Amino acid sequence: MGSPNYDALKLMILLSIVLTSIKATALPHQNPKSNSTQINSNSVLVALLDSHYTELSELVEKALLLQTLEQTVSDHNITIFAPDNEALERQMDPEFKRFLLEPGNLKSLQNLLLFHIIPSRVGSTEWPGEDVVHHETLCVDESDNLLPLTRGNTGEKLVGGIAKVTRPDDVIRPDGLIHGIERLLVPRSVQEDFNRRRSLASISAVLPEGAPVVDPRTNRLKKPAAPVPAGSPPVLPIYDAMAPGPSLAPAPAPGPGGPHHHFDGESQVKDFIHTLLHYGGYNELADILVNLTSLATEMGKLVSEGYVLTVLAPNDEAMAKLTTDQLSDPGAPEQIMYYHLIPEYQTEESMYNSVRRFGKVQYDTLRLPHKVVAEEADGSVKFGHGEGSAYLFDPDIYTDGRISVQGIDGVLFPVEEKPTSEPVTAPKVVAKQRRGMFMFL
Ligand SMILES: *[C@@H]1O[C@H](CO)[C@@H](O)[C@H](O)[C@H]1NC(C)=O
Ligand SMILES: *[C@@H]1O[C@H](CO)[C@@H](O)[C@H](O)[C@H]1NC(C)=O
Ligand SMILES: *[C@@H]1O[C@H](CO)[C@@H](O)[C@H](O)[C@H]1NC(C)=O
Repeated sequence: MGSPNYDALKLMILLSIVLTSIKATALPHQNPKSNSTQINSNSVLVALLDSHYTELSELVEKALLLQTLEQTVSDHNITIFAPDNEALERQMDPEFKRFLLEPGNLKSLQNLLLFHIIPSRVGSTEWPGEDVVHHETLCVDESDNLLPLTRGNTGEKLVGGIAKVTRPDDVIRPDGLIHGIERLLVPRSVQEDFNRRRSLASISAVLPEGAPVVDPRTNRLKKPAAPVPAGSPPVLPIYDAMAPGPSLAPAPAPGPGGPHHHFDGESQVKDFIHTLLHYGGYNELADILVNLTSLATEMGKLVSEGYVLTVLAPNDEAMAKLTTDQLSDPGAPEQIMYYHLIPEYQTEESMYNSVRRFGKVQYDTLRLPHKVVAEEADGSVKFGHGEGSAYLFDPDIYTDGRISVQGIDGVLFPVEEKPTSEPVTAPKVVAKQRRGMFMFL
């Protein structure tokens, strides 16, 4: 190891870069050469799938739209108007839902969902004032893909003329954002498809002006309303979704940009080091963290300031394979550690869900600008490439909402810097199988 001063200076420089970069927005990843794009873990799509909009996420998956959307976010920012679970569970007509989930009606489901996404970034501060602004949606059906953004009588933000925005800017990511809305928006084509299916000619013409009158007993329209001119807000009259669901107070978002809480980050870092020691099999890493007091202190500081971290912790067996050379260069242990720190709060579940849905996901690390790639393999999450890869081996060793520690069975290096002296990893045996949860349909 180099002189303490040199190390300290290097660390300070690194951390200032790290801090800046955490705050900076990452550009969406583009992969022009192949179709298997790697989505950035920072993407609004990943955030959607991990969000409390679980019903919507599930529908997006069932609609097989992830690839399309991945491509979209590599070119544009997107704004997602996300109906809350209430709107998709209790307020949705079961018959309509059944219709949407029939394999033959995939196109309708896709159109319905794409109607909630516009290929541009409209934050709540960019919301129109008095005027109506129509945005094209991703819904390919040209006839009705416009979505008006307006304000209601009391200045509330409305989408499609009817859906109140209940959680503006609920999720903000570099490639897009999510506004929570209180109800589903149904494009006319989908409504027509549905009505045709049910042979309910009497309802198919119904695009009522204002609130449709719904019979609370039958959940059906009391009487057909008059047709309205083109461009009117879409509405599916069979909903009794007019009453807004219970408004949920947004949970305080941890991490940068969230409210500034003062956590005792240092004791949290100590806590997880102790957890590692108690857990067993991670003594080497715990040792390094204890030895590199400056690193542990800085991690603690980051967490105190509201940042979140995921530590990919190589187990003792993996650490034992590191050569003296690899550890003895000035700053080498720090560099190795930084590549194992992800400036995001990820659990095994969130990472596994991401790789299952997207194939490959890349995470920023504190070793800039290097990212670590994750993919699904053998029912687990595999980090890194080829020889130098490591499996998520001991999930969720420590998770407290700000720091997450995930045990892995290899030491990871950025692609360019694969050690040449000696292979770092041995042939993989996945000893611990995943518990096989999170299956959707
Ligand atoms: C990528 O997709 C396009 C269109 O879907 C296809 O024409 C092309 O062959 C694909 N390229 C690769 C490398 O798979
Ligand atoms: C998305 O929006 C951000 C902020 O406005 C901008 O910096 C970025 O370049 C946009 N990304 C794309 C792909 O247009
Ligand atoms: C930590 O420091 C102790 C005492 O200086 C040393 O014996 C040990 O090898 C160090 N551990 C690591 C992993 O660097």
